[in-house]
Amino acid sequence: MKIIIDSDPGIDDVVAIILAIKSRKFDIMGITTVEGNCSLDNAIKNTFKVLDLVDSNHIPVYKGSGKALNNRNVDATEVHGANGIGGVDIKESKRKCEKESAIDFLIKTVNENPGEVTIVAMGPLTNIAYCIMQDNNFVKNVKKLVIMGGAENGGNVTKFAEFNFYKDPEAADIVFKSGFREVIMIGLDVTTKLPLSKPLEQLLKNINNEVSTFIYDISRIGAKFDREVLGKEGFILNDPLTIAYLLDENVIRIKNAYVKIEKTGDKIGKSIVEIADEQSESNCKVAHEVDLKKFYNILFSNLFPDKKNEITMAIGKIKGTI
Ligand code: BDR
Ligand code: CA
Repeated sequence: MKIIIDSDPGIDDVVAIILAIKSRKFDIMGITTVEGNCSLDNAIKNTFKVLDLVDSNHIPVYKGSGKALNNRNVDATEVHGANGIGGVDIKESKRKCEKESAIDFLIKTVNENPGEVTIVAMGPLTNIAYCIMQDNNFVKNVKKLVIMGGAENGGNVTKFAEFNFYKDPEAADIVFKSGFREVIMIGLDVTTKLPLSKPLEQLLKNINNEVSTFIYDISRIGAKFDREVLGKEGFILNDPLTIAYLLDENVIRIKNAYVKIEKTGDKIGKSIVEIADEQSESNCKVAHEVDLKKFYNILFSNLFPDKKNEITMAIGKIKGTI
């Protein structure tokens, strides 16, 4: 499956990118970067670090938008640390971004492969909105757009809004109005059910290799925030569910919906989700249930394929299924 990952790494973005690479199920045509959790410079630096970590420097990286459409100055440093990866100091890669911009790359690649490229958007939708505004063929040529963002109920930045849509509500609005043939919105309704809880932290510690140690270390600030401020059982693994869904669609249940985005007022960034029936119009499919154990299995067995027994034991300690 041909995919382009559009991302703002970001701790959970890092885990999602590693999952995509380690699964070996995708032709990752490129990673396009965007400002979100941290500055664009840090997002690029963190992307190269991940590619180094999993020996994947053949994947091209493109520089995207350094500002939301309305210049909204919002970041997620409380959760992701000032550098986007929990303040963990990393050796800067010598690699540079490709000369072509993220927007030009997205437009060109999608139009050269009509109906074949799935875009996985794990950050604010700024780059995707620019593509829509700049090229008339882009929307119709994208096979599928999988978005981590929004929520049918609640938020994580305000009580109404999820971070990626809150950071760039204009971009989200443009995306949902544009008419892509298939949009899957994977929001907080399902992703907040996916903490890196104690048994999984212990699993990472026991595995004790470069990848597990890196994931454990970068998620410490986020884990503290998600436990103490949001009352969760551990760091929330939002973005990896997009990739897990592409690996096994049965990991979530989806329903047809019409989604609109609040662009002003105290509900700015909120996704208004109207569930569609057979008669009504829909512009996307919204995830409303997740199979927890299936998700953790997909994630860990792809990250650490030689640790099947340890993974089964750790997942066995997790409460609940859906
Ligand atoms: C989303 O916002 C970011 O902080 C995460 O990386 C994820 O994409 C969750 O609201
Ligand atoms: Ca993200």
